[in-house]
Parts: sequence; structure tokens; C-alpha cells
Amino acid sequence: MNILSPSLLSVDFCNAARDIGIVTGAGAKWLHLDVMDGSFVPNISFGAPVIKSFRGATDAFFDTHLMIDEPIRYIDDFVSAGADMITVHYEACKDIEKTIDYIKSKSVQVGVAIKPKTPVEEIKRLIPDIDMALVMSVEPGFGGQKFMPVALEKIKQVKEICTGLGRDIYIQVDGGINTDNAGLAVSAGANVIVAGSAVFKNDIAANVRRLNEIINS
Ligand code: DX5
Ligand code: ZN
Repeated sequence: MNILSPSLLSVDFCNAARDIGIVTGAGAKWLHLDVMDGSFVPNISFGAPVIKSFRGATDAFFDTHLMIDEPIRYIDDFVSAGADMITVHYEACKDIEKTIDYIKSKSVQVGVAIKPKTPVEEIKRLIPDIDMALVMSVEPGFGGQKFMPVALEKIKQVKEICTGLGRDIYIQVDGGINTDNAGLAVSAGANVIVAGSAVFKNDIAANVRRLNEIINS
């Protein structure tokens, strides 16, 4: 079963509890939470207090994508807020091994993300220690951008490394996913599909059902 993780970056924040109910009611088990600091990425989104208030609205799995410099400084806050998985950017950490170990010590799952220009080779040595590898298919910072096909080749590389090591981890793709390219990402080896703008428009429940059908057919 491949997983759809709707990104709340595109939710109508005034009606977030209602729309969280709609996506989970339509079958989404994960929610993707995009935290941006205006430094690692050129945009600011929301932080731990907002995630904590979302936690009051749902039991969904909180897939927390930290696009912040030196995220190790804030791990405790995100764990207290209710994160189930914390994904940090390889490029944002001075000591990625220490950051991974710290997240694991808090008994939450750990992911490592790479930007479109970062080679998969850079994170190869980390695969034995992580629960998820996130291959960005846009430059992080904004929803609604166009999918970069270079991600497909990188997903294949991650998948090959995992197969070689006998590691069955989550391989997530994030950025510009829609009904036209979600199937391609799954064929390449992704098993967690993030979608923001393709979910939170028009009929949200129908979008979730359609994307779930595509990624599981
Ligand atoms: C981008 C974020 C994504 C974004 C995806 O920096 O990490 O999760 O919300 O939005 P769409 O699906 O609209 O590209
Ligand atoms: Zn994201």
C-alpha cells in the first residue's frame, strides 16, 4: 500500500480542522507538515505551536518536513507538538549523523531530505539508519511549483541502494505531484507521495480518492 501524504501548506488555514477532517475522511492516513524558516528556504510557513493545534484535530500520522537550518535545535519542540516522523534536510545540518541519532533518541521516526541538486550518493551511507528518504521534486520553499523529472532518476537510485542493502524504508517524493505524474513517481520506487496544491483545490475528498487510486493501482 503506497501512502498519500497531503501537504497542509496548501490548506485554507481558517478552515484547517474542517479540511483535515475531509482529507482523513477520504482515506489519507498521513499529513505532511512543511516547516519553513525564511533562512534555509526563502519562505516562512508555520512552526511547532501550529502543529500542536493540528494535533488536537486528528490522530493522523504527522509527517513533519523541516526546511530549517540546524533543525537539531528544535527537535524537542516538534516531538512535543505531536510529530510522528521528523524529516530534516541533509543540506541544513552541520552534523547529520548526530541529528539523526538525536531524533531517534526521542522515539519518533526519522527522515532525510535532499534538494533537487543534491546527489543521492551524499546520503547513501545514511540509508541503514533512517526510516525515510525524501527526494524533493521542486526546490523547497513553495507549494504549487512544477515537478522536476530529475527526481524520478534519483528515486530509482534510492530504491536500488535500499534493495542492495536489504532495507525496506519509506521513499518519499515531494513537490509538483499531480494526477499526471504520481504514477511515474510510484513506478520509479516512491512509496510515500506528498501532494499539496493538487489536493487542496475544488473537491478535496475527490482529489484524495483519485490520487490514492492512482498510487495504488
Ligand atoms: C515545498 C514543500 C512541499 C509543498 C508541496 O517546499 O516541501 O511539501 O507543500 O506542494 P505542491 O504539491 O503544491 O508542490
Ligand atoms: Zn514538504
